[in-house]
Amino acid sequence: MKVTVVGAGAVGATCADNIARKELCTELVLLDIKEGLAEGKAQDMMQTAALLGFDTRITGSTNDYTKTANSDVVVITSGIPRKPGMTREELIGTNANIVKGVTENILKHSPNAIIIVISNPMDTMTYLALKSSGVPKNRIIGMGGILDSSRFKYQLSQHLGCNPADLNATVIGGHGDTTMIPLIRYATWNSNPVSASLDAGKQKQVVADTMVGGATLTKLLGTSAWYAPGAAGAALVEAIVRDEKKLMPCCVLLEGEYGQKDICLGVPVVIGKNGWEKIVDYKLNGEEQELFNKSAEAVRSMNDVLKTL
Ligand code: 2OP
Repeated sequence: MKVTVVGAGAVGATCADNIARKELCTELVLLDIKEGLAEGKAQDMMQTAALLGFDTRITGSTNDYTKTANSDVVVITSGIPRKPGMTREELIGTNANIVKGVTENILKHSPNAIIIVISNPMDTMTYLALKSSGVPKNRIIGMGGILDSSRFKYQLSQHLGCNPADLNATVIGGHGDTTMIPLIRYATWNSNPVSASLDAGKQKQVVADTMVGGATLTKLLGTSAWYAPGAAGAALVEAIVRDEKKLMPCCVLLEGEYGQKDICLGVPVVIGKNGWEKIVDYKLNGEEQELFNKSAEAVRSMNDVLKTL
């Protein structure tokens, strides 16, 4: 099994580090345009192999896509990250060209790869990768919902005093501060709805804190976060390479599901060796569906910006 991570910045390198530690593949390529960066990080990670006991072989490449040939899964993290005060949407002009170029180069050498998009604004970048490449829809997956759901579980765990891993909680919709939808009604701990243990005020607080999870970290760090985004990317790679048939919220092409079409947006899907294999229909109530429609409207207007670039 071969995996490539494009972009050796903080998110890409953390994702690669998680992939190696979990031994998700025998060969892992890290690629970046900055001379020596991917080679340096790959070598640094390889020097943890004896300490951590993994046998994934990690190599770095400065923009040489021949090294990525025949990858089974490719994770795209390229592009500029947001700075404090910026929205993910403001990155569109710069990152659209980068993501389009990376997708083309990847497919030249790995025509059958499953592509995971993490670059922001993620929903629009996923749509762009899909439309510009013509790759079958099941092989293009945007990673945002897994990250946002993990942040949602963290926020819930702080109020409930429980282990975040014991929670079942899902964020759907766009991966934006105002477009994501933490489905609090569906969140459970020990099979009990969390709404039974949290009053309405606390539920509202959890939802609000989840939605600005990324922005809060950007303010604290001066740039966007990497530990959780990298780990979330690796979790998605794991579900694919191990054919886990795992239910994960991912950004995929909708063709009428959840009342939307011609848009990539976060919904629960089954992930396995073929990429996303099935969209699962959570029965949204009227209020949730309205939020989903609003989210789609916002993402669609970002997608329209692509036509002007
Ligand atoms: C985040 O939310 C990088 O979009 C990513 O932190």
